[in-house]
Amino acid sequence: MKFNKRTQTCGDLRENNIGESVVLNGWVDTRRDLGGVIFIDLRDRHGITQVVFEPSFNEDAHHNAKALRSEFVVSIEGKVRRRPAETDNPLIPTGRIDVMAEKLIILNEAQTPPFPISDDADVHEDIRLKYRYLDLRRPSVQKNFILRNTMYQVARNYFNANGFLEIETPILMKSTPEGARDFLVPSRLHKGKFYALPQSPQTYKQILMVSGFDRYFQIVKCFRDEDLRADRQFEFTQIDVEMSFVDTEDIYTIVEGLMKDFFREVLGRDLNTPLPRLSYEEAMELYGSDKPDLRFGLPMKKLNPIFEESEFRVFADAIKNKGVITGLLAKGCGDYTRNQLDVLTDFVKKLGAGGLIWMRVKEDGLDAPIAKFLTDQEKSNIFNELGAVPGDLVFILSGAKYKTLGIMGHLRLEMGKRLDLIKPDTDPALLWVTDFPLYEWDEETNRYYAMHHPFTSPRIEDIPLMDSNPGEVKARAYDLVMNGNEIAGGSIRIHNRELQEKMFNALGISHEEAEEKFGFLMNAFKYGAPPHGGIAFGFDRLAMLFAGKSSIRDVIAFPKTTAGISLMDDSPSQVEDNQLKELNIKVR
Ligand code: AMO
Repeated sequence: MKFNKRTQTCGDLRENNIGESVVLNGWVDTRRDLGGVIFIDLRDRHGITQVVFEPSFNEDAHHNAKALRSEFVVSIEGKVRRRPAETDNPLIPTGRIDVMAEKLIILNEAQTPPFPISDDADVHEDIRLKYRYLDLRRPSVQKNFILRNTMYQVARNYFNANGFLEIETPILMKSTPEGARDFLVPSRLHKGKFYALPQSPQTYKQILMVSGFDRYFQIVKCFRDEDLRADRQFEFTQIDVEMSFVDTEDIYTIVEGLMKDFFREVLGRDLNTPLPRLSYEEAMELYGSDKPDLRFGLPMKKLNPIFEESEFRVFADAIKNKGVITGLLAKGCGDYTRNQLDVLTDFVKKLGAGGLIWMRVKEDGLDAPIAKFLTDQEKSNIFNELGAVPGDLVFILSGAKYKTLGIMGHLRLEMGKRLDLIKPDTDPALLWVTDFPLYEWDEETNRYYAMHHPFTSPRIEDIPLMDSNPGEVKARAYDLVMNGNEIAGGSIRIHNRELQEKMFNALGISHEEAEEKFGFLMNAFKYGAPPHGGIAFGFDRLAMLFAGKSSIRDVIAFPKTTAGISLMDDSPSQVEDNQLKELNIKVR
């Protein structure tokens, strides 16, 4: 169909265009037929322009406009005019003009969409994802992708300006356990063998350092077969970074520079650097999380010292078993009802706590089920340590250290919500969490795992502890946290074959297995590996936070549901028998 191409977008026209002949192409957003006159709002991703069909102005165009329905695709030729007095729309940038239509070409019709293409329509996410192409037409959704696009440009400009090379790494690679489960791709040519999709380009970027590409970055898809959540997808995007001849401070400086650019270009605000830092230990003790939300205070307090001699069995046991007793002060919550306290008790029990100790602080002492087990000295120590005054509420949890701290951390977040401590205008809160343990003990399999990944270097001074006391070894690893979300993580790497072998050994990976799985990396290390380190950003999480959203699905064009399904194209799906045959695969 022949049609004239647009002279402007639907967001362009202003008063200085009045009198011009223009062509607009777009979708019919709304249509109002006021008997004599038909109005349509014409929409494209740049905005909305009102178009007027008046029989006295152009009879044909008016006649044709009667057929228009929402989401028809049209080309309109007409004259820009000042809107009649009193009909301005101050809510849109084109709101002082409209276009008097002289010609209308319907480029395509549209069925009635399953939901209105408007920002206010409250539509279930499953329907939005099934008709994602329509959902993506909505201005508020498009805004997220315009923001995401800005972020790509900011990142590429930043790394380019700082001497980094963008290098692509394979999507079909060797299965090398990195923490999550691999997605596997069967090889047709090599029956019974599989490629894995990269959980991250970790080994490749380290090998690029061996090759001398001393500053690498890549905006790259990563794949992990793990349970999906609001902040997790099977496939997600990283800004992946690796640098040679660096220590942790160099990484912090580069990352903070990028975050400054993001804040300026995307949010239009300054970010003060250097960013605050907390060690893993501090983050856990104060906020019960390795990704603490510092948009509000409400720190926890370790109370072990005041219960060293306690007669109260629960506390005495915690001390004896090298556990923790941690307290949280809820200011002004001393009037919480028994019912409210039961709800919070259930909350912590669901997370694995045995129960929740609470104390209402009164003028004349303490209203608490455990009051009778505590000495006056202990009670006054609690008040002093937590800064509690009459009218306040105190929570205490005790038990195994990190588990108990973690549960109190969740209670802290819950109280933050209940007390409405995060206001819409609260500043974003970024921090580094540093000095992670190198290993994490797994109760189920009874062995240590690498907390970050097996290529992470221990602190040099802790190397001797790798054999004698692995649990105490700290890693040269760091996470960047924003508003309680882990948005980046990385480490200084092991660059020496012997230390890498020692690490595999500590993780229970035999020499043979290490050779089989990581031999290529260990071989590369034989030929002059520079000291190196790096980090990877969760790009989707960053985009989500900058867009003010609470799910990364909002900033991914075609995401999977939490059940791992793409509702639009219905994947995963079955495949033809002969496809399977070619791959030598039998489905049981
Ligand atoms: P890590 O596993 O910490 O490190 O991943 C880096 C960042 O990626 C994001 N992320 C995810 N985002 C969405 N969906 C997921 N399933 C998902 N998993 C992780 C997080 C995380 O901080 N190779 C190392 C980096 C390095 O050491 O340099 C790595 O991948 O925001």
